[in-house]
Amino acid sequence: QTHIKNICCIGAGYVGGPTMAVIADKNPHVKVTVVDINAKRIAAWNDEDVSSLPVYEPGLSDVIQRARGRNLFFSTEVEQAIDQADMIFISVNTPTKTYGKGKGMAADLKYVELCARQIASVAKTDKIVVEKSTLPVRTAQAIKTILDQTGNGVNFQILSNPEFLAEGTAIKDLEEADRVLIGGEESEAGQKAIQALVNIYAAWLPKERILTTNVWSSELSKLTANAFLAQRVSSINSISELCEATGANVKEVAKAIGLDSRIGSKFLQASVGFGGSCFQKDILNLVYISKSLGLTEVADYWEQVIIMNDHQKRRFAEKIVQTLFNTVSDKKIAFLGWAFKKDTNDTRESAAIYVADQLMDEQAKIRVFDPKVSETQMQTDLNYLNTRSEAENEALLKATEDPYQACKDAHAIAILTEWDEFKTYDWKKVYEQMKKPAFIFDGRRILDRKELEAIGFRVYRIGEN
Ligand code: NAD
Ligand code: UDX
Repeated sequence: QTHIKNICCIGAGYVGGPTMAVIADKNPHVKVTVVDINAKRIAAWNDEDVSSLPVYEPGLSDVIQRARGRNLFFSTEVEQAIDQADMIFISVNTPTKTYGKGKGMAADLKYVELCARQIASVAKTDKIVVEKSTLPVRTAQAIKTILDQTGNGVNFQILSNPEFLAEGTAIKDLEEADRVLIGGEESEAGQKAIQALVNIYAAWLPKERILTTNVWSSELSKLTANAFLAQRVSSINSISELCEATGANVKEVAKAIGLDSRIGSKFLQASVGFGGSCFQKDILNLVYISKSLGLTEVADYWEQVIIMNDHQKRRFAEKIVQTLFNTVSDKKIAFLGWAFKKDTNDTRESAAIYVADQLMDEQAKIRVFDPKVSETQMQTDLNYLNTRSEAENEALLKATEDPYQACKDAHAIAILTEWDEFKTYDWKKVYEQMKKPAFIFDGRRILDRKELEAIGFRVYRIGEN
């Protein structure tokens, strides 16, 4: 049928949670159940106190309060939700493989495959299965093969419906999406399935923003979109280094090129390097696919975006060491920000982790303040790198609840995330409590250089000298 009554989403993470919340909010007559094997996460989604939701996103708590308990439910009863649904979204994580063939490059599809097998074993009625996770091209074929093995006469249609939301602006991105992409089979059944999903989105988006394609175009478009976006950041970051070496200013260069409507002004913000769970993983995936197909030049071309990004993080840390008279051993360095961008509590692949790790190798003592990230999360991020023991990480890096405390007696401050509140601090007070000369390394270019220099700070900003 083309009118869906019951949706199940497997995976209650940064994508599954907000996406389903908006779908439920806009489709009050569709029952939406989000399931996850992580019971703690589900409990947090069900918490009365909406400030305890597992994902921090501006506007999310309002949407949750409107829809939760009405037609939006969070549960650990995966099989029951699959059984009842006529449409199932797979929104589980697809991280880079850490073992075996394709280690460090290919997407690990074990969680997606587990979902497909579970759907196959539970389903008693026809289902539309929607790939919401970002997947390598032609994954839909693998999912279909697994599903079709059930042998109990159930018909499955597989759609690809990649998610384009960015964290920190997820609700706005969902409510006012530039476009929604739906890939499906060209057969009649495939077109019917596409229509069913189009109807869900048409509840709030104009029809011309809902694009339909074949499955493979849809899968590849998602990887390509992230590769293009990340490429812009690496491109401007490469120019930031050139600016520092020549006396040009990256802000002026970005503005000058961005005003060309063919280039456009967005995503030209030089930074300490892009982070997040998507860019690196998806480009590595694109590189791996290209290599597997023998397309060496294509693979090398996109890999350079990652190489540039690693360089940008490394040279920021090196700049700190070099400026602090070539040693940071036993020096206190305050980090403002740990999340990979503002307005999110997500830290996956955050530049802060790598910069901290490099400074800790030089025996620096790091004190971090981030408005939304806990010390436990920071330690988990560092331990994941396996550079040193957990005890050593705990001894070298600590979080504080108060930014002024983090900066007190510090030799230097490094801005790693562009949280708005950092701009409003009493920088004179911060300066007075620091060791002199007091340095600021602005990896996000958010602070007013002239004002800081007038107070007495020595300032370095990415992309200018
Ligand atoms: P996430 O890690 O936040 O959430 C995934 C959830 O899936 C976890 O809570 C995990 O417990 C659950 N899960 C894993 N296997 C399961 C299973 N077999 N049954 C039930 N639950 C299971 O990940 P995310 O950031 O939400 O990303 C999900 C997908 O969406 C990825 O493929 C990612 O590439 C893609 N994506 C992410 C973003 C983003 O900004 N985070 C944007 C677009 C697309
Ligand atoms: C990205 C894509 O934007 C989104 O469409 C996709 O669905 C998931 O991946 P996300 O990773 O959540 O979203 O955030 P994004 O805003 O793209 O930022 C990624 C990283 O690039 C952040 O670390 C950000 O600080 C950095 N960035 C972004 C820059 O350094 N400069 C810029 O100009 C833009």
